[in-house]
Parts: sequence; C-alpha cells; structure tokens
Amino acid sequence: MTLDLTPDQLLSTTRAVRKRLDLDRPVPHYLIEECVDLATQAPTGRNRQRWHFIVVTEPTQRRAVADIFLRALPLASGQPLTERDVWRMNYHSSSTERVFDGLRHLAANIHRVPAFVIPGVEGRTDHAPVAVQAGAWGSILPAVWSFMLAARARGLGTVWTTAQGPLERELAGILNVPYEDIMLAAFIPLAYTIGTDFKPARRVPSEQVLHWDQWKHSSAGPSQ
Ligand SMILES: Cc1cc2nc3c(=O)[nH]c(=O)nc-3n(C[C@H](O)[C@H](O)[C@H](O)COP(=O)(O)O)c2cc1C
Repeated sequence: MTLDLTPDQLLSTTRAVRKRLDLDRPVPHYLIEECVDLATQAPTGRNRQRWHFIVVTEPTQRRAVADIFLRALPLASGQPLTERDVWRMNYHSSSTERVFDGLRHLAANIHRVPAFVIPGVEGRTDHAPVAVQAGAWGSILPAVWSFMLAARARGLGTVWTTAQGPLERELAGILNVPYEDIMLAAFIPLAYTIGTDFKPARRVPSEQVLHWDQWKHSSAGPSQ
C-alpha cells in the first residue's frame, strides 16, 4: 500500500523527519526490501552497482549503532560555513532553529528508533581527486534518495544524517563491514511517520540557483 501522492507531491514533501518518527511502531522488513528494490533502479557510474544497504533492526545492534550516533554528534565537522551558507540557512526565519530543535529531539530518542539504514559504496576514495570522488558518491547518493522517496511513499520517514562520518571505522566494525573496501555514505533513522501529511519546504527561490548557459552571479544575498 502506498500513499496517494503524485510524483511532484512525493518529490516536494519528502522531508527530514525527526520529531514525527513513530518510535513505537516496528517497520516490517518487507517494506524496507521494497524500498531497496526501488533504490537499485537508480543510476551508477558504468552501471557498476556498487551500492549496499545495511539495515539495522535487531535490538542489540540498534543500541550499538544508536550509541555511535550520540558519540558522533559532538565530533561532527564539516566545511566552515560561508557568509552565503548562513544567508541561505536563514533565508526563511527560524529554519536553522527548527533543524537544531529537531536534532535535539532525535538525539534524545535515538535509542527508540526502530530501524537505521546505513548505505555504503564499494571502493574508498579517501584523498582521491574530485573526479574520482564524484564517480563514487554519484553512484550511491541517487540510490539513497530513491530509498528515501520510496519510504515516504509507504508512510515511512527518514532523515539524512552524516553521523557515520566521524566514527566510520568503529561503525564499520560493529556492522562487520570491511572498512578498507566500503565507504559508509550516510546514517539514516527510519520509522513510520506520525501522520502522513508533509508540506513542501520553503527554499531559496530557484532563480537564485538556476543558471542559463553560463554562471550568473546572484544579485540577491551576499556575493562570493
Ligand atoms: C549531506 C546531508 C547531511 C545532513 N546531516 C544531518 C545531520 O547530521 N543531522 C540531521 O538531523 N539532519 C541532517 N541532514 C538533514 C538536513 O538538515 C535537512 O535535509 C534540511 O534541514 C532540510 O530539511 P527538509 O528537507 O525537511 O526541509 C543532512 C542532510 C544532508 C543532505
């Protein structure tokens, strides 16, 4: 059974779900299998299909993985924010606040999340040139987003996190993933959603990111 959503509705209402994850309802394996089946329709470089989906539902494993999530939180790093990043994040008031509020809720309840999806891609690209990186990440991220869309269509909610990053080797150990061969790409809590109505998000207008024929410096917002 899938929700009655048009393709455009599905694409515009698949939100990062943190507060509306139903923590009391197990997710049947067959639904996750359907999502993986759809995810593997995504494109990959040279059709190499290097993807893997490690799905954790067993209680002891879930606890171990949830512990990693919590320990990874304060270790999260990333590129420093530019002035333009901050401008975009605050383009619609309180969006950053909402994200952090949701994240605090997720962290407080992470041990109750019924399933975690940890996608991986074969072949490590640590320190590789951008072109090689693009091939690897481009061969897993479309599939992961397809998984998340398929989940939404089935009344399930997901939130993309990068909690796998700071403690990737340790997480790989817990999951028995061969770290030297596989990169873990994301750490995605999964559960039924509480209610199924989600709205399109407010984003920066597309004319600020759409460039016809050549790069156009945006007139709105700080210039880079
Ligand atoms: C690469 C990436 C990393 C993200 N990392 C986190 C994260 O670590 N924790 C979290 O709660 N959300 C994370 N998110 C979710 C974003 O915060 C979310 O997509 C954004 O706030 C937009 O939410 P919306 O689609 O519901 O409007 C991440 C999303 C992406 C694509």
